[in-house]
Amino acid sequence: MKIGSVGAGFIGRAVAKLAVEHGHQVMLSNSRGPRTLTSTAISVRAGIGKVADAVAFGDVVLLAIPFYAVADLDPAVFVGKIVMDACNYYPGRDEPVPELDDGFATTSEIVQRHFAGAKVVKAWNAILERDIEKDARPTGASDRRALPIAGNDSDAKLVVATLFDSLGYDVVDAGTLGEGWRFERARPAYCVRLDRAGLEDKLMEAGAVQQAEGAWRD
Ligand SMILES: NC(=O)c1ccc[n+]([C@@H]2O[C@H](COP(=O)([O-])OP(=O)(O)OC[C@H]3O[C@@H](n4cnc5c(N)ncnc54)[C@H](OP(=O)(O)O)[C@@H]3O)[C@@H](O)[C@H]2O)c1
Repeated sequence: MKIGSVGAGFIGRAVAKLAVEHGHQVMLSNSRGPRTLTSTAISVRAGIGKVADAVAFGDVVLLAIPFYAVADLDPAVFVGKIVMDACNYYPGRDEPVPELDDGFATTSEIVQRHFAGAKVVKAWNAILERDIEKDARPTGASDRRALPIAGNDSDAKLVVATLFDSLGYDVVDAGTLGEGWRFERARPAYCVRLDRAGLEDKLMEAGAVQQAEGAWRD
């Protein structure tokens, strides 16, 4: 599969490295342009381009940028694309978003609203970048980690689930983008290593408990 990444920071690089190791092709991009990614591309063995090049390249696009920067991207470029939305909302880093703070929307619903012509699948949100390569396991491994996804388009979710399986992860479908809050920051499933059954339980518990801020980094 071809993956175009918008963002070449911690998450963009970690997913790219894993994907290339598993036989996929990746093109990385960032806000400053491909000249700033030359050494990254060599270490990850990925191609580099402008944002529009990476989006056009990808059968699937990885959106791995700060949540506040999503509004800067031109939605026309993303029309028809499957977009894996890894963006998480951190109120201390991102502009305050009252809709999110008051629970009237999920982060990926806002991303989908911006990229109205794309098929957004919330993915890669609930794993720390340092674990992406470490926790990958072959299909059928007894200690395989499961990761949550959410989306409004079943076909797009199937493509993303197939990609995850090829990269070493089981998937639990949490439902529509409106259900994406179940694995947003600090929810019980957020950045915790879980198998499929454990993740299903944590997604169901999501409304009852929250993790202490930053507990997932311990
Ligand atoms: N780090 C984690 O463990 C982790 C885990 C799950 C999810 N996430 C989420 O994933 C997203 C990325 O996190 P990260 O840790 O990878 O961040 P990061 O290391 O700061 O990297 C951010 C990347 O986004 C690029 N970028 C920023 N604005 C852009 C724009 N307007 N157009 C194109 N590229 C742009 C940056 O490029 P420039 O430097 O050129 O601006 C940089 O390559 C965040 O929303 C984060 O919450 C992170």
